[in-house]
Amino acid sequence: MRRIVFLGPPGAGKGTQAERLAHELGIPHLSTGDILRAAVAARTPLGIEAEGHMAAGGLVPDDLVLRILRERLDRPDARAGYLLDGFPRNLAQAGALAQFAAIDRVVSFEIPSELLRERLVNRRVCPKCQTAYNLLTKPPKTSGKCDRDGTDLVHRPDDQPGPVATRLKVYAEQTAPLLDYYRSRSLLIPIDATGTPEEVAVRLHRALG
Ligand code: AP5
Ligand code: MG
Repeated sequence: MRRIVFLGPPGAGKGTQAERLAHELGIPHLSTGDILRAAVAARTPLGIEAEGHMAAGGLVPDDLVLRILRERLDRPDARAGYLLDGFPRNLAQAGALAQFAAIDRVVSFEIPSELLRERLVNRRVCPKCQTAYNLLTKPPKTSGKCDRDGTDLVHRPDDQPGPVATRLKVYAEQTAPLLDYYRSRSLLIPIDATGTPEEVAVRLHRALG
């Protein structure tokens, strides 16, 4: 059983690394951000409630996120473990998670904030398969189209400069306190998240043994 949490600021590369690692370990990659964006796109009541918070760069209310996460963790594919990307995001969520799951490892992605802005503003995402591209470091083969399925790539509304600034502030104020929370429980593994995705993947493997 492997229950891993990826913790790190917006744009640190959590989604990029989570997709690879989850595939290698044969466990689901559970990104609360991806689940919420799918709910927004499907215009479900939950998505409609989450949309404004997300576009502005703030957190979606805890009760709503906890509800979707618990439903997702109840599915059979999560019984053998999972990789949580973007959850928990504050101390209340970490406390709630501890009530129903024993986490094995929390990987903290360490990266200077100047690099984050550049990565986020240049990110484009496939709304169908969630693959992330970067106009500077990982452009799609055909401009504006996903390499995997040809879908038109989108610029996330919260990747505009205003919401990016809010997300970085929310991370510093609400999510960064989780570093101490997990360090004090001997679960935290910091990794250097600068360099190429391949270099980060090598560090991640080493860190997780
Ligand atoms: P979420 O989707 O979780 O966004 P985030 O945490 O802000 O993180 P990102 O997805 O922006 O970055 P990432 O670390 O995954 O980086 P990526 O690999 O894509 O959350 C969005 C919103 O949903 C929140 O603001 C909130 O409103 C809501 N939400 C979600 N979870 C919630 C929760 N638990 N509670 C409440 N609200 C919640 O990489 C970024 C870019 O950099 C890409 O272009 C990529 O190609 C590139 N890149 C990646 N690695 C490298 C590298 N090594 N070198 C160069 N470029 C790289
Ligand atoms: Mg992500």
